[in-house]
Amino acid sequence: MNRRLPLFAIAALSLAGCHTDMWRQPKGEPLGENDFFPDGQMSRPLLTGTIARGKIRKDDAFFTGAVNGKWVDTLPVPLTKALLERGQERYNVYCSPCHGQIGDGNGMIANRGFTLKRPVGNYHTDRLRKMPVGHFYDVITNGYGAMYSYSSRVEPSDRWAIVAYIRALQVSQSPEAYGMDRFEVEALKKTHAPAAGTESHGGGSHAGESHAGESHAGESHSGEAHAEGAAH
Ligand code: HEC
Repeated sequence: MNRRLPLFAIAALSLAGCHTDMWRQPKGEPLGENDFFPDGQMSRPLLTGTIARGKIRKDDAFFTGAVNGKWVDTLPVPLTKALLERGQERYNVYCSPCHGQIGDGNGMIANRGFTLKRPVGNYHTDRLRKMPVGHFYDVITNGYGAMYSYSSRVEPSDRWAIVAYIRALQVSQSPEAYGMDRFEVEALKKTHAPAAGTESHGGGSHAGESHAGESHAGESHSGEAHAEGAAH
């Protein structure tokens, strides 16, 4: 019986021995210390002319919402109907659960007992109406107080789409604050309401893009129909 003990001890020791070389690796960690180099740093300085991996983020206004430490007050992307529609769609996915569909801070989560340290922001305050668009971009990118960052879920171009849509929400709730009077608002409603459903079903107008000889001429404006046509 007793003879088993030393065997066990040897087994345990040799097993432990296998381990150590995995966590003691003779390698330098990025940004660690290294006394081999005169500057004492492991990472070497970048050579002049080094090119960034991926895309270079040179456009401050677009990627940070600020230029020289000041928030930009105009969108760094063209304001189009498509941008607003994209913004509306992304806003409803990511922001409306807390901020509500019109941005008053009465989203489902805010109403159903999800208690945060501070109340969900309401976009329809004087402070936020006057806030440059860059601030909204920054809030999405870096979070704000109790609100966490959305940078991993919403990419920069979509952040600007959301910002544009937030501004539209703000104007919709208080047009006077943006220099519009009641009559202008009524006029806008009249000119824009009927236009909504009437585009892009013009059938024949896309004939130039359709593949000759294909039978789905009626659907030829959709990307899939083209792909199918090309594959055959
Ligand atoms: C989980 C809930 C939640 C979601 C989702 C959310 N927010 Fe917020 N948001 C908050 C809270 C809470 C605050 C108030 C934070 C504070 O004052 O500490 C806030 C504040 C804000 C403010 C006001 C900042 C200021 O200057 O007062 C803006 C603008 C904003 N959010 C934009 C957004 C946008 C855009 C989205 C979607 C991409 C979003 N939020 C998604 C909870 C949320």
